Amino acid sequence: MKAHFTQNRSILLAMILALTFAARVAQAGDAVTFNNQVAPIIYQNCSSCHRPGEAAPFSLLSYEDVRRKGKTIGKATVSHSMPPWKAEPASYAYRDERRLTDQQIAEIQSWVAGGMAEGDSSQKPAPPKFASGWQLGEPDLVIEMPAGFHVPADGPDIYRNIPVQLGLTEDKWVTAIDMKPSARAVVHHVLYFADGSGHAHERPSQGAEPGYSGMRAGRQVIPLGGWAVGAQPHFYPDGLALKVPAGSDFIVQYHFHPTGKPEVEKSKIGFYFAKKAPERNITRIQLPPHYSLFSGLDIPAGEKDFVLRDSYTLPVAVDGVGVSAHAHYLATQMKMTATLPDGQVKTLLLIKDWDFAWQDRYYFKDFVPLPKGTMLSAEIHWDNSADNPHNPSNPPIHVQWGEESKDEMGSISLIAVPHVESDLGTLNSELATRGRKLARDKMAANPELAKKVMRLLAD
Ligand code: HEC
Repeated sequence: MKAHFTQNRSILLAMILALTFAARVAQAGDAVTFNNQVAPIIYQNCSSCHRPGEAAPFSLLSYEDVRRKGKTIGKATVSHSMPPWKAEPASYAYRDERRLTDQQIAEIQSWVAGGMAEGDSSQKPAPPKFASGWQLGEPDLVIEMPAGFHVPADGPDIYRNIPVQLGLTEDKWVTAIDMKPSARAVVHHVLYFADGSGHAHERPSQGAEPGYSGMRAGRQVIPLGGWAVGAQPHFYPDGLALKVPAGSDFIVQYHFHPTGKPEVEKSKIGFYFAKKAPERNITRIQLPPHYSLFSGLDIPAGEKDFVLRDSYTLPVAVDGVGVSAHAHYLATQMKMTATLPDGQVKTLLLIKDWDFAWQDRYYFKDFVPLPKGTMLSAEIHWDNSADNPHNPSNPPIHVQWGEESKDEMGSISLIAVPHVESDLGTLNSELATRGRKLARDKMAANPELAKKVMRLLAD
């Protein structure tokens, strides 16, 4: 209960602060109106998602839209649940941070409390125009999945790889990939891969549905990131990009989560390409590796605060580009720090109220220089008690690492480039060796775990 009590108390505190602020705003002059103060806040911070075809359940594109939802908007903004942005301010600023200022929050409070006036129509700002249905603008290449996948109303989660030909006649460098699922509710997350052999699309479909099952997309595929519920598309910063060789097939590995209603999913995928090859290549330092499969993720029913920690000392200097975290419903807190060689401890990511629905990537405004010898530390907390309102099992059950949403996994990744490109090989091979050693040791000590992994690989 304690975590939620603290959370409620801080919401209450925020409300009191906002109201005092609102009182001052109101005293200082004219009443807050939609046209004057509120519309610019909403149009800049909310409408990109709150419009037809995007993730949010209703539009916020006009006075009427906003007034109708005014009370809920007041609550959602003062509690910081909207706009969604889970990362607390860290030691380094993030890019495209979606946070309202205290003044903006207070203005919304004051507008709602004051009766939600529209204001002077001569000051009415134009609603934002979105050039295309895509958040990042028109993609350089759009593909549609070859056939719809039928997700049944219920049953276990489904992992499915669906390959598609890209038709690239030359190597390309991807700066962003965005996806438009046709049935957003059943798509829990996807991973993207390039298959440089170009043969993936020839693989026969298993059964009546497109694609083939299993967690492994194929042997020699290149990971290209992914998309999770609530994630926003982002461009890689500063000319960084991932290579997709000419002739590649593209494979989307879907994780479907049945919702109680049958759905047909046929996504559109948009690719954004760089003009030229990047000078440095991105890598990902994941702590613990393998989303904690080999790190003792084993949470008794009722356990209120289960913690995993992992740390890794950088063998070469890198520049931190961003951070991302992944876990399922039971996680509560995520933290990644960097202890610099001079002993200073910097926070790279802190999420105090993990929400499965909002798994974003947080890119730093500027590259974060992390010298050789810097120790990265990750700490993840889970709450498997009945007090956790997100617990999918009631009463709580014993939870271990697993791919289903009711299982758990967890890790935090630093997205980085080596400070000097020639160090990339050293870093990647050290990371791979570390991951393999951890897996080997844990499986040798735990035959049950070894069997589970064999089953997963055979799948
Ligand atoms: C990144 C996309 C995104 C942005 C930006 C965003 N929203 Fe939302 N919003 C959503 C989604 C998705 C939902 C549905 C969430 C759910 O069902 O849990 C939602 C739900 C809501 C709700 C209903 C939730 C509730 O608490 O009842 C309100 C109110 C809301 N948003 C207001 C806002 C406001 C105001 C802003 C800007 C200050 C904003 N949103 C910005 C995606 C967004």
